Amino acid sequence: MEPSEVQRGLQDVVALESRICFIDGREGRLLYRGYDIRELAERSTFEEVAYLLWYGRLPTAGQLRDLTQRLRELRILPEPLRAWIGSLPATTAPMDLLRTAVSALALFEPEETRPGPSSIGGAQRLTAVLPTILGEFHRRRSGRPPLAPRPELSAAAYLLYAVLDREPTELEARALDVALILHADHELNASTFAARVTASTLSDLYSAVTSAIGTLKGPLHGGANERVMELLDEIGSVDRVEEVVKERLARHERIMGFGHRVYKVEDPRATILRRWSEKVGAARGNLHYYELLRKLEEVVHREKGLYPNVDLYSGSVYALFGIPPDLFTPLFAASRVAGWTAHVLEEYDDLRLIRPTAKYVGPTDLAYVPIGERPDDPGPAGAARPA
Ligand code: ACO
Repeated sequence: MEPSEVQRGLQDVVALESRICFIDGREGRLLYRGYDIRELAERSTFEEVAYLLWYGRLPTAGQLRDLTQRLRELRILPEPLRAWIGSLPATTAPMDLLRTAVSALALFEPEETRPGPSSIGGAQRLTAVLPTILGEFHRRRSGRPPLAPRPELSAAAYLLYAVLDREPTELEARALDVALILHADHELNASTFAARVTASTLSDLYSAVTSAIGTLKGPLHGGANERVMELLDEIGSVDRVEEVVKERLARHERIMGFGHRVYKVEDPRATILRRWSEKVGAARGNLHYYELLRKLEEVVHREKGLYPNVDLYSGSVYALFGIPPDLFTPLFAASRVAGWTAHVLEEYDDLRLIRPTAKYVGPTDLAYVPIGERPDDPGPAGAARPA
C-alpha cells in the first residue's frame, strides 16, 4: 500500500480489529464485548466487567465468585515495595508513583512478565493491587496507619476505604463501582493504544501498563477531571460561569471535560455520571458542584457547540467523597487497567508489530560540514530547535 496523506493524531485511522469495545460516536453508544454500558452501569459490578473484558463473556456465578476471591487475595503488596512507598516524599505526584510502582512490581512477579496467555495472571494482579498502591501512599502522606487488605470489601469499597480510611457508605461504594465500570475500557484511546504498541513488540504486560499510565497522565486524556474541579473552584458561583467561560474561550483555552475525538454527541458515560453527581450531591445536601456543572454545560454548548465527556462529572462525585483531586486520574487508572490488560491480551493473541510511518518533511541531501569548519550560526536548516 502506498503511503497516504498524514492523518494528524491518527484521527479516523482504523489501526486494528478488536472484539473488546465498540463506540458509536454519532449515536452516543458504548458497548463492552457487545453489552451496552448503560445496562452494565445499572446491573453489573466492576469485578464482573473485568471478567467480561478479559474473557469475552459474562461469568457464571461460580466464575465471578472465583475471580472476586482471587482479586481480593492479590491486594497485598510485596514488602520492599510497601517500604519504598513509605519512603517517598509526600509531594510525590500520585500518577508518577503509580507508573513507577507498576514498573517496580514486575521485579517481584517474574513469572508474569512473560508475554502471552499467562499474562492474565498479571492482569488480575495489577487490577487488584493498584488501589493498595494508592491507598498506602495516600495514608503515609496523610500520617495515617498502613492499609489492611480487607478481603471482605468489593473492589470499589476497598478503593474508597484505602484512600478515605473509613468505611464507605453503600451509596458511595455503588457510585464508585459505577464510575469504575464506566472507565474500564474505551476502545483505542491514547493510553490503550500506548499499551498495545508496547505489547506489539512482544514486550511484557507490566511494561505495557507502565506505558499506558504515562499516557493517561496527560491533561488531554485522564488528567481532565482534576482540571474541571480547579475550574469549578475558580468559578465559585453559578452567576460567574458565563463570564469565566467566555474569558477562557476568548484566550483560546480549552474547557476541560468537554469535547471528544470520537463522540459527536454526548458521551454516554457523562449522561450516567451526571445522574450520580446529582444523586450523591442530594444525599450529601450539597449540590454546589452539580449546579455549577449544569450551568457550565449550558454555556459551553451555547458558545462552542461542545458536549460533556466522561471527565466532566466524575470529579464532582469523587470530591464529595472527600477524595483529593490528585487521586482522580489514579482512580481512572485503577479502573482502566482492566481494559488496558484486556487489550494487551488481545494483542498477544493476534500479534502484529504496530509501526506506522511518518511523512518526512525535513531537508535532504545536506552536505556534512566538519565541526571545526561550521559557522557559529548554522542557519535555519541546521537549527530547527534552539540548542
Ligand atoms: N474546549 C474548547 N475548545 C475545544 C475543546 C474544549 N474542551 N475541545 C475541542 N475544542 C475545539 C478546538 O479548539 C478546535 O477548535 P478550532 O477548530 O477552532 O481550533 C476544535 O474544537 C477541534 O478540536 P481538536 O483538538 O482538533 O479535537 P480533538 O478530537 O483532537 O480533541 C480532545 C479531543 C483532546 C478531547 C479535546 O476535545 C479536548 O482537548 N478536550 C478537553 C480535554 C478533555 O476533556 N479531555 C478528556 C477527554 S475524555 C478522556 O480522555 C477520558
